[in-house]
Amino acid sequence: MSDLIDILDKNKVPKHVAVIMDGNGRWAKERGQNRLEGHAMGVDSVRATLKAARELGVSYLTLYAFSTENWSRPKEEVDGLMDLLVHSITNELDELNENGVRLTAIGDIDGLPEKCSLSLKNAIKDTAKNKQITLVLALNYSSKWEITKAIQEISNDVSNNKLLASEITDSLVNSYLSTKEIPDPELLIRTSGEHRISNFLLWQIAYTEFYFTDVHWPDFRRDDFLEAILDYQKRERRFGKVSEQLITDK
Ligand code: IPE
Ligand code: IPE
Ligand code: MG
Repeated sequence: MSDLIDILDKNKVPKHVAVIMDGNGRWAKERGQNRLEGHAMGVDSVRATLKAARELGVSYLTLYAFSTENWSRPKEEVDGLMDLLVHSITNELDELNENGVRLTAIGDIDGLPEKCSLSLKNAIKDTAKNKQITLVLALNYSSKWEITKAIQEISNDVSNNKLLASEITDSLVNSYLSTKEIPDPELLIRTSGEHRISNFLLWQIAYTEFYFTDVHWPDFRRDDFLEAILDYQKRERRFGKVSEQLITDK
C-alpha cells in the first residue's frame, strides 16, 4: 500500500495545525473502561501525531489538552488528568529533546496545580532551544479568557498613556494574546464527531480550515493526521477573493 505522505504536496504543508483532542471518554466507555484509561491511551495518539507532524515539516502543533471548562468534571477525572500531564511531560522530556521539539503552553498555567505548572515550566525551559517543531499545549485554556485578559491589558496601557486607542489594530490585539509568537493555524482538526469549537482559539481561527473526523482521539494515528492534511490540501482558501483572482495571484 502506498504511503499517504508520498501523495501530499510538500509545498502546501500547513505551518500550524491545531487539534481539539476529543473522545477519550467515549473510547473508554465503548470498552467498558474508566474514562482515565481513555485519557492515558490518548498519550499514544499525541506521540503519533507529533511524529507525523514533524515528518511532514509542520512548524507548530497546538493540542487542546484541558479547557477552563474542564474543571467542572468529577474531581477524580480532573486529578487523574493532572497526574497524567505531569507523568507524560516527565516521561517524554528526553524524547522531545532528541527530536528537536520545543514545548510551549497557552492558557492560565499558574492556575494549574503546582506540580503541573512546575513540571511544565521546567520542560518549556529545557526544550527552549529546539528548532524542529513547536508543540503548543493549551492547558487551562479558554479563548474568551485569553481575549478578556488582552482587553484588560490593552485598556490598562491606554489608561497609562502607553498606547492610544487609535493604535489598536488587528496586529496589536494579536500581540496581547498568548499566541503572539505563533502564526494562526491554517488547519483545525477535531476528533470524535463533535462539530463545535468549545472556546478554543476564537480569534486565531478567523480564516482556519476545519476538519472533523469521527475517530476517537485514542485511535487517532499518523494516517488519520495525513488524511486531514490531504483534505486540507484539496481546499481553495479564498480569503474573501473570488477563485479567478487566486489563479492570477500565483
Ligand atoms: C478529550 O476527551 C479530553 C479532554 C477534554 C481532557 P473527552 O474526555 O472529552 O472525551 P468524551 O468527549 O467524553 O468522549
Ligand atoms: C474540548 O473538549 C476541550 C479539550 C479537548 C481539552 P470537551 O470534550 O471538553 O468539549 P465539550 O465540552 O464537549 O464541548
Ligand atoms: Mg469531549
